[in-house]
Amino acid sequence: MALLTRRDLVRSGLAVSASTFVLGSVRRAHAWLAANPGATSAESLAAVAPRERLLFDFGWKFFPGHGSDPQRDLGFGMDQGDFAKSGNFEFAQEKFDDSKWRPLSLPHDWAVELPFVRDPQVQEHGYKPLGRRYPETSVGWYRRAFDIPREDEGRRIAVEFDGAFRSALVFLNGYFIGRNDNGYAPFRFDLTDFLNYGGKNYLVVRLDASFGDGWFYEGAGIYRHVWLSKTDALHLGNWESYVRSSVKGGAAALSLGAVVQNESRQAESCRVRWQIVDAAGKTVATADTAPQSVAADSSSAFSANANLPSPALWSPQSPQLYSAVVTVESGGKARDAERITFGLRTTVFDPDKGFFLNGKPVKIKGTCNHQDHAGVGAALPDRLQEFRLAVLKQMGGNAVRTSHNMPAPEWVAACDRMGMMMMCETRLMSSNPEGMAQLELMIKRYRNAASIILWSIGNEEDTLQKDPPGERVVPAMVSRAHELDPTRLCTAAVDGSFESHFSDGLDVMGFNYNLKVPDNWHKERPKKPSVGTETASSVATRGIYSTDKLRNWVSAYDLNYPPWAETAEQWWKFYAAREWLAGGFAWTGFDYRGEPTPYGWPSINSQFGIVDMCGFPKDTFYYYQAWWGTEPVLHLFPHWNWEQRDGEPIPVWVHSNLDSVELFLNGKSQGSQTVEALTHLEWKVKYEPGVLEARGTKDGKVVLTEKRETTGKAASIRVTADRTEIQADGEDVAMLRVEVLDEKGRAIPTADHMIDFTVTGEGTLIGVGNGDPNCQEPDKASKRSLFNGLAQVIVQASRNPGKITVEASTEDWPPPKLPAVTLTITTRKVEVRPTVAW
Ligand code: GAL
Repeated sequence: MALLTRRDLVRSGLAVSASTFVLGSVRRAHAWLAANPGATSAESLAAVAPRERLLFDFGWKFFPGHGSDPQRDLGFGMDQGDFAKSGNFEFAQEKFDDSKWRPLSLPHDWAVELPFVRDPQVQEHGYKPLGRRYPETSVGWYRRAFDIPREDEGRRIAVEFDGAFRSALVFLNGYFIGRNDNGYAPFRFDLTDFLNYGGKNYLVVRLDASFGDGWFYEGAGIYRHVWLSKTDALHLGNWESYVRSSVKGGAAALSLGAVVQNESRQAESCRVRWQIVDAAGKTVATADTAPQSVAADSSSAFSANANLPSPALWSPQSPQLYSAVVTVESGGKARDAERITFGLRTTVFDPDKGFFLNGKPVKIKGTCNHQDHAGVGAALPDRLQEFRLAVLKQMGGNAVRTSHNMPAPEWVAACDRMGMMMMCETRLMSSNPEGMAQLELMIKRYRNAASIILWSIGNEEDTLQKDPPGERVVPAMVSRAHELDPTRLCTAAVDGSFESHFSDGLDVMGFNYNLKVPDNWHKERPKKPSVGTETASSVATRGIYSTDKLRNWVSAYDLNYPPWAETAEQWWKFYAAREWLAGGFAWTGFDYRGEPTPYGWPSINSQFGIVDMCGFPKDTFYYYQAWWGTEPVLHLFPHWNWEQRDGEPIPVWVHSNLDSVELFLNGKSQGSQTVEALTHLEWKVKYEPGVLEARGTKDGKVVLTEKRETTGKAASIRVTADRTEIQADGEDVAMLRVEVLDEKGRAIPTADHMIDFTVTGEGTLIGVGNGDPNCQEPDKASKRSLFNGLAQVIVQASRNPGKITVEASTEDWPPPKLPAVTLTITTRKVEVRPTVAW
């Protein structure tokens, strides 16, 4: 997608002056938009109005502070007077020396860089030393110098954080600007009054991860994007624009809303115009409001309607998106504009028939997910969100739950684009000001997202579920949610006190686990729709086939779960058999750091994932693929490398949705079995080395076969990339899969070699992983051992087009040393998104 830079505008004649960025008439700008269908990003709206949204991720410096010793925390809090006068914070002034600070780019998570500590108090955080007992590793400072041109005087300039963990204090040019406590909601501060126009500016952020928001790995740092936004003083209110739709009889009626804020000193007369653009860039509708006066220092709401006679509907199979260019016009000039993306679809939660999308019944086949990944912790490059979603789609999933917090914008955008429904959850369940503020932010920020089908106002709030405050908090949150978004319903994930009034206040009942509860509950409340907000929590270690408590391994047969939980087969059979249950969300799609279950130290992550921390599938992935997906599936396990177990019976499982499967060992039939829906097949096979083969039959014909072969000695390394050409934008990543092969080129499923990586050229290695829940090797390192045959390397492009070379080699010990291999990735020149210079 070609983004429009300031230079392009000047070249195209749209900008009358490169420096002031004053643009031509509204008509001309709209004509440009129509002619540039690819320009779908907010950045390209510079063609319509003088708004800039600049990525503020590059050129930062980092310093680890201290949570209790001011001397080791830049002297911050040394005496009483830090906040006594405005403007005295030296660390945010020019004279401050940051030459010893570490240069880095965002997103950044310092927790993932810390060593593991054997302390049960930080087990939930994946044994990372964060918290009040670890003051020396719980505070981080970020500093960024940047220029603001003199011509920006008169514009409104704000810094926007998509999320930072945690307790942010923001300073600019010596002034304290503001604070934000929780680690997931976005926050922004207007900087206009404190900027140095025509000179250098110094922005400083202090984060303190001494307190947490959850019971899982949360990371620490500015782990999402930061933006610098510049608008006219007459501008659209932040996250106030919406497109609501009602689709009936094949046509869509759009109700359009926006708020215009006038931060100038005089009243302004303006109107708002909406231009609805389809996926091909064609304008399909427009709407204008009448002019309205907005008083100085105040704001006004604007609304209009539009109709689309035959809209393309959004669904997981066909994620059709539209965008609305919302423009504020005054005196025939566009003063501000933004582009919002939306989709048209109908959703109904029916108490008897489950969930309907666009009038058709759709069972929700969902997973809950936390937001961290191997190698990078909570600081995911945007591309990684897509990579993770693709894994879940491949499994046949059609929905995700953002447990238990507001997601990153790129996760939501990827769901919109790739067709994944979403249940979007807030972190703090409360009607207190902080709880309501988080809820409002979540809804305003994401209410245009096509993927979101349900808001979740909380998870397993044991006290609220049973005590009287719950009966008051639920209606307060639900009614505010309806006010901000009358098009979606609210649920909460309930795990106990099911009979209390807490649940009655929800639009859609959300069951967590407890398969004995829903039938009676539903009988007693036949008018309430229900969904499985959290299910499964079965545990498995990828590639392990017998549980070994000494090594913290759980066998990957779908058999193991903690007392409150259930296997994949148990929960899905239950939900699939009940039409009135809308479907459910398995805990979890991906393994995540922290909350190590079922074992503690040295386990540093949970084993709930259907795929591991890297996204490598465990075997149950194929159970879901068989019964959630639409393609024929035949998956055979375990591997067939059982040295010294000759003659021992090995349980052999197959996940398949074919009619029947016949199993062979070294050509000898072990029997054929008929597939029973939603159930795995199982044989006991006496081990002998060789070839185990499953042949799957459909309508009397063998349509799929799968083999597990006893592999030989390690002979070579194989490195493959998800993409060998990526964008030279300083952000894009290639995800590498590393394996060791035998002399016949077969991947060895038990290989555990340590592999060294040397990355040269136009990219850097930003993280490594192997999916082993017990591996305490560092994530930020240039080597990694394979775990059950696999490791992952994440390589990020620089901004220079060229080549990245990745060399993988084994160490000298243990012998034999394998020949080094090289993989080349090309980084392609792209128009990078507008960025604050550094
Ligand atoms: C649930 C909880 C999740 C996770 C899960 C583990 O009770 O909502 O966050 O802790 O249990 O099974």
